[in-house]
Amino acid sequence: VALSQDDLKKLAAEKAVEAIRPGMVLGLGTGSTAAFAVDQIGKLLSSGELHDIVGIPTSKRTEEQARSLGIPSWPSTHPRIDLAIDGADEVDPNLDLVKGRGGALLREKMVEAVAEKFIVVADDTKLVKGLGGSGLAMPVEVVQFCWKFNLVRLRDLFRSLGGKAYVTDNSNYIIDLYFKEPLKDGFAAGREIGKFEGVVEHGLFLGMATSVIIAGKNGVEVMNK
Ligand code: A5P
Repeated sequence: VALSQDDLKKLAAEKAVEAIRPGMVLGLGTGSTAAFAVDQIGKLLSSGELHDIVGIPTSKRTEEQARSLGIPSWPSTHPRIDLAIDGADEVDPNLDLVKGRGGALLREKMVEAVAEKFIVVADDTKLVKGLGGSGLAMPVEVVQFCWKFNLVRLRDLFRSLGGKAYVTDNSNYIIDLYFKEPLKDGFAAGREIGKFEGVVEHGLFLGMATSVIIAGKNGVEVMNK
């Protein structure tokens, strides 16, 4: 039987969950792939195969899911996160990522930046040769106050831009950036985007993933840093 995209997401997510050990503080990601990991954590807790873990959800949605599964969660920041598991919108060969199309980029980045280990879970449609290569939007979170200043400044910088107002969990707006071609230097692009006052965060997650688990027709592949 051919596996659906959801089956692949689930395979990758469940593989990542195998890395969880009792006593860990976990970063719980957001999105359809991460949700399979959170489900699996809930299952292992209720069967007793897993115990003594605490999760830090990266969105209100995930917080809700964790609560419904009885996963002890700690929504505020914690000085230590052992392992974060989350999906991605794009994954390049250096394990650099575009994330945040679900609008949860700020909390995701805060959690994943401090996590000892950050495992990305995805189906193989997320693989790109260079970031921006999917042609899909990369989100930029901006404060609501005078947000159009930033819409205009980002449009001037990247030329190809679609703007929309979407209110995040942190009461900010999201601006969608479209890159005309894959980025040659993601760090430089991130610096350019981040230099504008009122820009809170962007969806380039560079040098953060410690491994990526990709599920495709031919099985599950683990890419390590
Ligand atoms: C949420 O804000 C995102 O960063 C998601 O992790 C990303 O969009 C991937 O989502 P899916 O797993 O639903 O594709």
